[in-house]
Amino acid sequence: MPFVGENVVRTDAVEKVTGAARYADDIVLPGMWHGAVVRAPIARGRLRSLTLSPSFEWGRAAVARAEDIPGKNCVAMIEDDLPLIVTGEIRHAGEAVLLVAAPTRELARAAAAAVEVECEQLAPVLTMDEAKAAAIKIFGSDNVVHRCEIQKGDVDSALSGADLVVEGTYETGSQEHIYIETQGMVARWEGGRLFVEGSMQCPYYVSRALSVLTGVPEDRISVRQSVVGGAFGGKEDYPSILAGYCAILSRKCGHPVKIVYDRDEDIRFTTKRHPSRVRHRTGVAKDGTLVAMDISFELDAGAYVTLTPVVLSRGAIHAAGPYRCPSVRVRAAAYATNTPPNGAFRGFGAPQALFPVEVHMDRVAEAAGLSPLEFRRRNCLKVGDTTATGQRLTESVAALRVLEEAARRSKFERLAKGHKKISGAIRRGVGLSLFMHGAGFTGSGEAVLRGKAALRLEPEGKISVLTACTDMGQGAHTVLRQMAADQLGLDIGLIELPTPDTAYVPDSGPTVASRTTMIMGSVLAKCAAKLRAELFEFASGEFGVRPERLSFEGGALMHGRKRLADASELIRSYAFKRGVYSVTEEYELPPGIKWDEKSYRGDAYPTYSWGCDVAEVEVDMDTFEVRVPRMWLAQDLGRAINPLMAAGQVEGGTLQALGWALMERVASSSGIVRSDRLQTYIIPTSADAPEMETILVEEPYSRGPMGAKGVGELPMDGPAPAIANAIYAATGIRVSSIPITPERLYEEWRRMK
Ligand code: MOS
Repeated sequence: MPFVGENVVRTDAVEKVTGAARYADDIVLPGMWHGAVVRAPIARGRLRSLTLSPSFEWGRAAVARAEDIPGKNCVAMIEDDLPLIVTGEIRHAGEAVLLVAAPTRELARAAAAAVEVECEQLAPVLTMDEAKAAAIKIFGSDNVVHRCEIQKGDVDSALSGADLVVEGTYETGSQEHIYIETQGMVARWEGGRLFVEGSMQCPYYVSRALSVLTGVPEDRISVRQSVVGGAFGGKEDYPSILAGYCAILSRKCGHPVKIVYDRDEDIRFTTKRHPSRVRHRTGVAKDGTLVAMDISFELDAGAYVTLTPVVLSRGAIHAAGPYRCPSVRVRAAAYATNTPPNGAFRGFGAPQALFPVEVHMDRVAEAAGLSPLEFRRRNCLKVGDTTATGQRLTESVAALRVLEEAARRSKFERLAKGHKKISGAIRRGVGLSLFMHGAGFTGSGEAVLRGKAALRLEPEGKISVLTACTDMGQGAHTVLRQMAADQLGLDIGLIELPTPDTAYVPDSGPTVASRTTMIMGSVLAKCAAKLRAELFEFASGEFGVRPERLSFEGGALMHGRKRLADASELIRSYAFKRGVYSVTEEYELPPGIKWDEKSYRGDAYPTYSWGCDVAEVEVDMDTFEVRVPRMWLAQDLGRAINPLMAAGQVEGGTLQALGWALMERVASSSGIVRSDRLQTYIIPTSADAPEMETILVEEPYSRGPMGAKGVGELPMDGPAPAIANAIYAATGIRVSSIPITPERLYEEWRRMK
């Protein structure tokens, strides 16, 4: 029986619902101490002194300073600019200036509170506007952290030749991940080796960063994932920092050290989504054909480089949306501010680019006298078209298909014509968005990573999938087992997937970028082919038959239609007679994929997933509150390996995007986050969830495993513009920035009057 396409029960279901799952905070080691962080109290300045107050009995605690870092005082990511412990210039509030550890969490916190931090204050740069003005320079000569530019055709002459030009400026806000489980990590040293376990997406990122910090080679560092209660990108880069704190403290005090953040600490000091400001100038012909797109795409990077160049790059590549346009220019820049560094968050720059383009395209459609639906039908990318980077799309292009599917299922045209005023002050409207998401790393990323996975025969008669790709609640480990089972032809009960630990699993690359199913699935297919060949060769000797006639069927080894043995018995006897067998393979980009990092031209991603969201909203014109009673989500993922979990990704991502669109607001003053608890940082709950109709569209990708692409981030891209467009349909108010809080909507309405 095939397992791909079935709603196989998640690998982690039972342990999670029974409470057996071991999260970072459940880890208790003998003699374990607890760490706490002394932080810079201001957004920008110079550290003057640290005084250990005599009010605390310092003999009960350990203190670690920058001098206690045996390697390099930096958290290695793309650049080496982020120090683990700040010594000179403070670049954002909350940077670590000192680390403390003590036998209990309470004592560690008391110790941290007993350190007086004295700083010389400097004027901070807190907004992108201040950063651009560069009156205060905090990064290079112009505060620009990174730039990139996409050029296709001749935009200026295309714009001047256009029948209509539509301009608009759009802004998107910050967003905190609010994974249910806050960041947590434990580190211990034993015999010159470092062992780290905690909540993370990318064990090898942590391992590399720890090696730079400690000077210990990676083969003496083991990084193990604990059960992760959600990550959404927030545990892509930050865990390297937390692991660094724990490792340095543990080395200093000689005990295992654990740090688990409280919610307020997690909200204030960990990475968030980059806020954006995007300007569009779009030229369109009388018949509604796009002729030119001129786009400026700007991000607020925060205080350090971290992952910003890659977020900027993905945003720039998605900035023109899923449209065919002969002339496109995208100028992208990220600016430094004295705020905690922004980082990875589901979508990774693409939502910040797709909200603007999708709201803008509704305006362009209106200017051209076309309905939002008709405009997109005419202009969306189809097979044979080229994207903004000049990538020719040869297959698996589902823009039109998801558009028609969403329109048909929602009866979009009928809803769009229908009732506006329903009762009293309530107005109802419907809007849509069309979007795509590149699966895998940008450009030559996957060619550089060469993500590895392995299959190994286990002496007890099972097969293990060895991968560093983590399950953070998205279901990756279930999906990988489903694919491996079918690729081998075996029952899924025979396929295990041990917890990723860098001591035992190959470097699969990070668990990010909607890459796991597509990339790991392809690698596992290669492993499976070799493993089967090895087992059949062994079996042919054992049973005296020709290997070509052998196959697996469920739990059995078959010779033609004849059952020869239990598959698990065959594996056991292989292990007994021949010993350990494992096969490791790595990902290779399909041939013909070409990307030029310098000119930003070529095949930006191996392939894209496509989506169309329709949102129905109700706006209360007395209170300016927005409700989203219904949404239709048509999303193409190539092949749904586990349809129920895929729908879960789509619905969860949609609700997360609804929060970003309507309510989530990171409120700061003087560079310090004030909305630091769930009473003040409001996320949607089940009460805010629309009734969602999820339509999984399968437009297979010939180079993906069983046709699969990615679906992790796609659902984050569409809801905000669909909701904004629906608000316009309901009220006539054009919303150009999110979150669309009642206050903001009221302001926009007043401005219109
Ligand atoms: Mo991600 S936002 O690619 O973890």
